[in-house]
Amino acid sequence: MKKVMTGFEKDRMQGWEFRVMSFIFNAVDLVKSPNRRLDTFNIQKGQTIVDWGCGTGRYLKQASELVSDKGIVYAVDIHELAVKSANKMIKKFNLKNVHPCLTDGQSVSIPTHAADVVYALDMFHMVKDTKAFLTELCRITKKDGLLYLEDGHQPRELSKEKVNNSGCWDVFEETKAYLKCKPKDRTI
Ligand SMILES: C[S@@+](CC[C@H](N)C(=O)[O-])C[C@H]1O[C@@H](n2cnc3c(N)ncnc32)[C@H](O)[C@@H]1O
Repeated sequence: MKKVMTGFEKDRMQGWEFRVMSFIFNAVDLVKSPNRRLDTFNIQKGQTIVDWGCGTGRYLKQASELVSDKGIVYAVDIHELAVKSANKMIKKFNLKNVHPCLTDGQSVSIPTHAADVVYALDMFHMVKDTKAFLTELCRITKKDGLLYLEDGHQPRELSKEKVNNSGCWDVFEETKAYLKCKPKDRTI
């Protein structure tokens, strides 16, 4: 019988697509370690950080080490296979400070104004409701927190347009790899 997909299930990859992606990312990571990927995010010991769209969980080990046992890493994804991958990483590397969270793409069970740093890598192009997504990211980020947002597979101008239309983030710096954003105000 054909499975009828509802709500956010339609917004996420098929299981086979996630598995193909995992296979490719794992192969790429064998050639080039993902363990330096977060080096430019200035993550400090004791901070709370969020890997939104964590996928295979390839950055969780480095994130966990950077914040140390005094910090917290939330690993968020819309796909239950990603949560499964995050749990595998936690077990494999004994990452006691990493907490996987399944989201519907619009909200997540992370406290308000909890995060010092949020990063969303190679996933912005997949987000259907970008305003709801960016509003939720703003809710969970501290007043002086930062968002590192990669374009993913979309032009930079489109990423910036989406961020500006959200009304809750200011892009204050950009590199070839990402937009660096800060919350516009804390009324959200
Ligand atoms: C191409 S993968 C990238 C994974 C990881 N960030 C990386 O750079 O390796 C994109 C991930 O984003 C997730 N995703 C897509 N839309 C999402 C959303 N609205 N909220 C959370 N995760 C989402 C997908 O399920 C997938 O695991």
